[in-house]
Amino acid sequence: IFLYTANWTVEYIRGNPDGYYRVITTINNQSTPGPTIEVYENEIVDIHLHNKLSTETVSVHWHGMHQTQKTGWMDGVPYVTMYPVAPGEVFHYQFQARQIGTHWYHSHAGVQYPDGVFGAIIVKDKNDLYTNKIKTDYTVILNDWYHHDAIELGAELADNVHPDYFPEYVSGLMNGKGRYNCSTQEIQSLICVPNHEYQLYNVELNQIYRFRIISAASGHTFNFSIDNHDLTIIAMDGIYVEPFVVQRLKLYVAQRYDILVTMNQPIANYWIRATIFDSQVIKGILHYANAPDSVDPTSQPSEPKTVLINSMQLSPTVHIQYNESDPFEQWVLNFTCRNDSYKCEINGVQFGLPNKPTLLSMYEKDEKHKAQTHIIEVPTNTNVRLILNNLGSMSHPFHIHGHDFYVLGIGDAYFDHPHPFDNDTKKLRFNNPPKRDTEQINEYSWMVLQFYSNNPGSWFFHCHIDWHLEAGLALVINYKDGSSIEKPPNDYPIKTNYKQADAAAQQR
Ligand code: C2O
Repeated sequence: IFLYTANWTVEYIRGNPDGYYRVITTINNQSTPGPTIEVYENEIVDIHLHNKLSTETVSVHWHGMHQTQKTGWMDGVPYVTMYPVAPGEVFHYQFQARQIGTHWYHSHAGVQYPDGVFGAIIVKDKNDLYTNKIKTDYTVILNDWYHHDAIELGAELADNVHPDYFPEYVSGLMNGKGRYNCSTQEIQSLICVPNHEYQLYNVELNQIYRFRIISAASGHTFNFSIDNHDLTIIAMDGIYVEPFVVQRLKLYVAQRYDILVTMNQPIANYWIRATIFDSQVIKGILHYANAPDSVDPTSQPSEPKTVLINSMQLSPTVHIQYNESDPFEQWVLNFTCRNDSYKCEINGVQFGLPNKPTLLSMYEKDEKHKAQTHIIEVPTNTNVRLILNNLGSMSHPFHIHGHDFYVLGIGDAYFDHPHPFDNDTKKLRFNNPPKRDTEQINEYSWMVLQFYSNNPGSWFFHCHIDWHLEAGLALVINYKDGSSIEKPPNDYPIKTNYKQADAAAQQR
């Protein structure tokens, strides 16, 4: 079996991905994003992670990969699946890439990935229906970008609560490239290189390309479009869907879409856009062969006929049919981020890190440590239904580890307390509901998620806005019966003083 092996060193470097120089946290000295992992389905990923940061711990999560009762230890969530890797230490991650499609990895330690520790994982399907139709595959990894490091931004947020609970981006990156307007900087030339290059995709007339779009954002939603071109969505979070044509799609934090684009427009350069709040932030260039080189496109955004708002518009190609009478167990999760402090709560509980990873407590049958944090316990081989009611004024992209969920419904107002004008509130979709691992719930809204509990372990469930997660919008889903969990690896990290490390990092 093929092995993707690598040595990764996490370290600080000085870089200027959008033109402006700052200290960024990177893998193998190569700016951000980190290396792309590309494997075929079921191949093994094998990475030695060296933490060369002076004070911060590290731990990498493979977002979209479902670890198992054997490899749950590799899931990379500090204090859920492992102790984080301390400065100077090494951890050996090894797992089988079983979920095909477009995925990504990111640090799950504190607020670290916004500083640059993330990258793409592409798991190729041996029976890919589209390989013969397309000229090539491109990856588009998008993130919001800041000029202060995330620990500082987090501390600022905590002192002075921003209405949306995330810092304002200053720019954004596509595959690690962006263009900041340096003229707003005082001492220009030393710290900011103007007219920084854009990410360029070379295409040929009349060919079809697949773009694998990944949001590696930490706070913001993107509106993605390519001037003059239709986008045919064929997969979301690695799940194939019936082709659906849009001109614009909303990409919430941590989501992925695969799209096909046919190059059927006049030979020219066109803007690829990922806007935040309708102001243009991230741009890249679609460059047709024989179009002028190094010329910025003059194309304009087209008026979208169809916009993808959420996954309820899409249908997986592998159909499933639930019946309303199928048995399930449900948990109602009412949550909000408070307006008076930097604190988010689910059913009144702010998530806090326990002293010991919850998976280790489960494996060691340690009830005392297990009780230290917000856990729900689910039975094995059951339809687990999560009724989410967002009682607050911010929206949240919820993500589950170890599984995909079915999105049975999304609606206004609260579930079971329908808005008087909302007739759809109680309509759940049992016929072929969308399946994925991250979906957005809007402010003052409900969402119903369901997954089948066939993967014993201790799995994080949280808002993927990194600042909301830091404020406590998370819980752990534990299987009641953890007896099939296999033993931790030999180099399982030992406990370090995480909080002290973070405090020290703030002084750096
Ligand atoms: Cu991208 Cu807890 O995950």
